[in-house]
Amino acid sequence: MSVICIDNDKSKIEKLNNDIIPIYEPGLDKLVQRNKYYKRLRFTTDVESAVKDSDVIFIAVGTPAMENGEADLNYVVDVAQTIGKYINEYKVIVNKSTVPIGTGEIVKNEIKKALKHRNVNYNFDIVSNPEFLREGSAIYDFTHPDRIVLGLESEKAANIMKEVYRVLYLNETPFVITNIKTAEMIKYASNAFLAMKITYINQIANLCEKVGADVHHVAKAMGMDGRISSKFLHPGPGYGGSCFPKDTNALYKISQKIDEPITLVGETIKANENQKLKMALKIKEAMGELKEKTIGVLGVTFKPRTDDMRQAPSITILNELAKYCVNFKIYDPEGLKEGKVRLEKIIDKIVFCKNEYEAITDVDALVILTEWNQFRIMDLKKIKQLMKGNYFFDFRNIYERKIVEQLGFKYYCVGR
Ligand code: UDX
Repeated sequence: MSVICIDNDKSKIEKLNNDIIPIYEPGLDKLVQRNKYYKRLRFTTDVESAVKDSDVIFIAVGTPAMENGEADLNYVVDVAQTIGKYINEYKVIVNKSTVPIGTGEIVKNEIKKALKHRNVNYNFDIVSNPEFLREGSAIYDFTHPDRIVLGLESEKAANIMKEVYRVLYLNETPFVITNIKTAEMIKYASNAFLAMKITYINQIANLCEKVGADVHHVAKAMGMDGRISSKFLHPGPGYGGSCFPKDTNALYKISQKIDEPITLVGETIKANENQKLKMALKIKEAMGELKEKTIGVLGVTFKPRTDDMRQAPSITILNELAKYCVNFKIYDPEGLKEGKVRLEKIIDKIVFCKNEYEAITDVDALVILTEWNQFRIMDLKKIKQLMKGNYFFDFRNIYERKIVEQLGFKYYCVGR
């Protein structure tokens, strides 16, 4: 099988052709290099020949949230029109983008319209094939999925898709073959459920804190129940990223629009916003007057092993603290470039640092917002000496209270 990646962003394609990966994703550079070397993978902006040369075409464009929370389908529609403009024989058109229920139908109609305009009549099949990989572990997740979901309408398309995923099919990865709308729904329902699960444990954590319970033990024992499972029960400053915030909003909007509101998802969205603000409030309440205080921030990306800052909790939390005239010193192993773009716009007093120790030198407080591995093994004694103050906010719960307090820090976390 050979793969052609098409984008209309020339600079992105140029970078990929020069072995530069435009995002940080562990292992992706080697994977791309290897497949380019064996001539199984190429990158181009030439959409016409790529469409003509392909048997299966994946639509994998963004579906960003619009102002009102609904998913913006412009890019999907645009690609569908382009496909309709150039197809020259039977093709399978697979939608990988996360899209509202019914988008498969829209894509089909756009292609049909384009074919009619050209006065030609080629057959094609539409497939919905949602993706469940996580950033930071994209390669492992993609090659070890819990299931492959395929929404489709013909035996022919099903056989072609099984061929595309032959390796996984042979590995006995479960395949869920269903209709297109159901496949589209599976993606939203899964993401919203996971977002809800995180929010649930965050709220339990907040309650634990008030009543003197330990959320880690609660989560551990809950997770031992096979019906609940231990995954996605880690409390923190709220979920972020390019999927959960966007997809919960989109699903909630869809459900409201057709008068069947999924109120649990509506509450999840509100509670997650609140969780981020709560973190800022926790700092304010602990430290009192914040004017001209300096805070060292470790981690600004929405999770470790990525440079992605989209909807990162750090943006809300730092923006909130900036209202009190706080100075920030920031370090993130991969997020500094993107962090500068996102944070310098909203915060004046911000300095980006070369490492974690520089970021906490002479600060009144340190705040851990992303659980990068290197933050788990910091030399706390050295940190204590370098810091001016002794406030230690660990919003990813990666340290033990006892150990940190013994060194003379004032320790704050989430739910313990
Ligand atoms: C998510 C889905 O997991 C994935 O299936 C989908 O394809 C895309 O969206 P991703 O956003 O890459 O993946 O990362 P994920 O690991 O799910 O984390 C999302 C957010 O939830 C992060 O901000 C993370 O810190 C937070 N999170 C996750 C928690 O706060 N607690 C948890 O237990 C798990």
